[in-house]
Amino acid sequence: DWNSGNVIAEQVERIREQIGSARVISALSGGVDSAVSTALVQRAVGDQLTAVFVDHGLLRAGERQQVEEDYVAATGVRLITVDAADTFLAALDGVSDPEQKRKIIGREFIRAFERAQADLIAEAREAGEPIRFLVQGTLYPDVVESGGGTGTANIKSHHNVGGLPEDLQFELVEPLRTLFKDEVRAIGRELGLPEAIVSRQPFPGPGLGIRIVGEVTRERLEILRAADAIARAELTAAGLDGEIWQCPVVLLADVRSVGVQGDGRTYGHPIVLRPVSSEDAMTADWTRLPYDVLAKISNRITNEVSEVNRVVLDVTSKPPGTIEWE
Ligand code: XMP
Repeated sequence: DWNSGNVIAEQVERIREQIGSARVISALSGGVDSAVSTALVQRAVGDQLTAVFVDHGLLRAGERQQVEEDYVAATGVRLITVDAADTFLAALDGVSDPEQKRKIIGREFIRAFERAQADLIAEAREAGEPIRFLVQGTLYPDVVESGGGTGTANIKSHHNVGGLPEDLQFELVEPLRTLFKDEVRAIGRELGLPEAIVSRQPFPGPGLGIRIVGEVTRERLEILRAADAIARAELTAAGLDGEIWQCPVVLLADVRSVGVQGDGRTYGHPIVLRPVSSEDAMTADWTRLPYDVLAKISNRITNEVSEVNRVVLDVTSKPPGTIEWE
């Protein structure tokens, strides 16, 4: 019979056997899989683990604080944050093609992670304790999908923050390999992780970078971040988090429309709400959200985010639409 306490005890034992006294690193994305796998390894080997969190500047409001403050407080993990927003934005300058954006974000993520890793390796070498292991939040469905292979750091780029370097010479630690998502969440709760992380809906590794249709700029990111925070807060307040799979909020940065506000004419950008219901993200339907919730979100966004004068609802299923707009 399945019991999260037993699974934790069993995994902690296994992790200790695998890692011994070596050092280990982990990439935290803010998502539930990396958060839980990292917390398990922390529980098993404590400060032999260093977690690396890359802030690529494409995060949603509050996500960095959630990791740096709440997650660290809950787990006691040794965390290094890489401040890479400037680098990512410079690399994305002038780019509006979706695939191009994804490639750039993936590449910059690898670079940022490798820089942090090089520092850690140097530090560990000085201490005479080589880093030999890398934590990966691989779930059972990922194992099945990729044919059950093990041992190498060859992860589908779709599944993590841009994809980790393919030439990593680390042995993988994958404490979630036998588990399904709901089991991972149960373990996260048992480990005392922040509820906002444990129950987080899927969020793409390239972050808000692929939710701005058009070029990614600091100013546009701020607009989208503000609108997204409002939509999330209202969906949560309405108790709808359990009903929707996720709700991308998208800024049509190159589109403008005429509006009126107070005494004046406005010429602002539309925000798209894309609430979807799904079992596995392979197919999806648009969620029939209550009109009053939609009205509240629309009113708040247009009142509180001055650059936005229109909120529109995406009523497309997948297929033919994808969940994300890019
Ligand atoms: P689409 O847009 O293909 O999205 O219908 C399916 C699911 O995958 C998420 N998604 C990503 N997740 N890295 C990720 O970790 C990515 O590059 C990425 N692109 C899309 C999307 O949010 C949805 O849940």
